[in-house]
Formats: sequence, C-alpha cells, structure tokens
Amino acid sequence: MRKKIVAGNWKMNNDLNESISLINEIKEVLVEREDVKAIIAPTFVSLDRASQLLKGTNIGLSAQNMCYEDSGAFTGAISAKMLKSVGCEYVILGHSERRTLFGESNSDVNKKMKKAISEILTPIFCIGETLEERENGEMKTVIEKQVREGLEGISEAELTGTIVAYEPVWAIGTGKVATPDQAQEVHAFIRNLLKEMYSEELAENTTIQYGGSVKPENAAELNGRPDIDGALVGGACLKADSFVAIIKNA
Ligand code: PGA
Repeated sequence: MRKKIVAGNWKMNNDLNESISLINEIKEVLVEREDVKAIIAPTFVSLDRASQLLKGTNIGLSAQNMCYEDSGAFTGAISAKMLKSVGCEYVILGHSERRTLFGESNSDVNKKMKKAISEILTPIFCIGETLEERENGEMKTVIEKQVREGLEGISEAELTGTIVAYEPVWAIGTGKVATPDQAQEVHAFIRNLLKEMYSEELAENTTIQYGGSVKPENAAELNGRPDIDGALVGGACLKADSFVAIIKNA
C-alpha cells in the first residue's frame, strides 16, 4: 500500500537560525503517524544542521533543487552527491517556480531525475498546468508531456519509490486551491498514465501528492479522495502548527 506523504517546501524562507527554530518547534508539536510520512525541504544552507536536528525522528529531509552534473565549473550549482553528504534523502525536482522563473525544461528535469535516482536520492517529481493551459483545454496534454518527457528512459525499477506531486500552477501561493474533484480527476489521470507507461503495480504504489494552497482546513477533504496521497505544502508549512495540522488532517 502506498503511503501518504506531507512535504513542506520552505522555498527561499528562513535563514539558519530561523530554520533551527522552526525544526525544533515542529519536533515539539508533531505526533508522528505510521500512515503519514513528514518531510521538510529547507534551503541548501540549512540542510546540514537540519539533518543533525532530525536525527532520531522519522521526519525526512529534502532539498528543493539540484544540478544534474556531478562536479566542475557550474557556479552556484549543488550536486546530488553534495546533498547526500549532508544527509538529504529526497529532492524536489521540476517545481513550477524552477520551470517558470528559472527556465527549466522537461529535458532538464529528466536529467535531474536520472541523476537523483542514480545517487539514491528520492525525487519529488513536480508537474502541473498553468491557468491558461487549463482554460485552453490543454491540461491533460501538458501533464502527459511533463510526465513522459520527465520520465523518459527511466525504468520501472528505477522509478519505484519516486514521489509525484501534482501542483496546478494557478493554485500555488494564490490561495486558490483546486477543488477535491478537480484534483482527483488529474491524480487519477496521472496514475492511469503511469499504469500505461509502466504497470498497474507501479501506478498503485506511487504516492501522488497534491500541492497548491494546501492548508489545515482543506487537507482532510483533499486527502479523502482515492488518488490523493498527501500534500506538498508551501506557505502553510512555515508555521509549525499549521504544518503539523496538515499532517494530522491528511
Ligand atoms: P503553496 O505552495 O502551498 O504556498 O501554494 C505549494 C508549492 O509550491 O509547493
């Protein structure tokens, strides 16, 4: 059975001291659940300390991005090996902010996916359509292209364990959450696509998170749908209480 996973994407928030405080607060209020895994994704500069603070807990540690190269003249870039060396187990790849603000293509995301998998980092593979694409009736075409191109050349064995995050771009940071029906429709579409590309077993075992304005108030209803397996949370993960309430309500 697949697990529900709630991941907090801190984005470019919290310096080192603020990160330490937030992690300590989360540890204080979080009641860990067997059936829901919690992950936090602080910025690069806080990862090392975060992994020390998370020792002895079941909270997973994720980076927000990485480079697909191993090392060399790539100013400002961070490799998968470097992430592993500070205790990271997960990495968010293809987030819509990386795609829209930093020009990442499906092929860039594909290279990162392959590198992360080869270094035994679990990807949180993000996909989602813009409002314009949805209104033009292109939602499924866009999602299918992101999935097929993002996963090109990755075998079933390699993909096993990868987390998928469906994040409609129009719902990220806007307060406009997808309705449970809207989200369920796309989640079922993605799961079906995975079945077509790989197998029923892989599709059924893959965690597909919903992301985009998830809050304690809407987490339960979204997670009541059969194909929604947790959440990728931005704004609401920056306060320990609301992050923990989302985990509780998932
Ligand atoms: P949000 O961000 O919860 O602030 O909408 C979600 C995300 O970008 O992962």
